[in-house]
Amino acid sequence: MITSPVIDPRRLRHVVGAFPSGVTAVAAMIDGEPTGMSASSFTSVSLEPALVSICVAHTSTTWSLLRTAPRLGVSILSAAQESAGRQLGRRGADRFAGLDWRATTDGAVLLDGASGWLDTSIEQQIQAGDHDIVVLAVHDLGRSRRPSARFPRQPVPPPGGLSGCGPGFTVHLDPRREGQP
Ligand SMILES: Cc1cc2nc3c(=O)[nH]c(=O)nc-3n(C[C@H](O)[C@H](O)[C@H](O)COP(=O)(O)O)c2cc1C
Repeated sequence: MITSPVIDPRRLRHVVGAFPSGVTAVAAMIDGEPTGMSASSFTSVSLEPALVSICVAHTSTTWSLLRTAPRLGVSILSAAQESAGRQLGRRGADRFAGLDWRATTDGAVLLDGASGWLDTSIEQQIQAGDHDIVVLAVHDLGRSRRPSARFPRQPVPPPGGLSGCGPGFTVHLDPRREGQP
């Protein structure tokens, strides 16, 4: 059993946000429609066998669809695709509107113009707090020369921003990232 002190989730998000991340689009064809979500929790796990992972919130309705797909496309978004990264995380929006994408024969959906792409399937799903760690087996992959998007999770605290969350830090929430891991 995991026992840990109670940490304010906003403070955790703020501090972890000091570690910059990119953003991926995780997507597949579901009932004939491209279906996907942004995931900045993407990381490499293993070289042999080739495994990567994402962390997915238990509240994600899109994940409940994606987890049924035989293959998942993971597109590592390029710097020119930062707005696509936000669009693919927006609830109630047509997430693929205006985006160029392609589907593999197994139904993985990949965005055109990405910095890199991986054709994956779910290998393992591990419950961890309010998220699942999803380990993905890599079946195929490629990389372009486009620089990748960078998503600092929180802005850098301004000099003298000292209130709120402990020594030396103020929480400055970016409203676009409310509810994100
Ligand atoms: C830049 C960005 C990164 C995100 N990263 C993650 C992530 O790593 N894991 C996750 O569960 N949700 C992440 N989200 C949120 C999902 O993309 C999506 O908004 C969320 O799952 C709610 O929508 P849904 O109910 O349709 O799944 C991210 C959103 C944005 C905009």
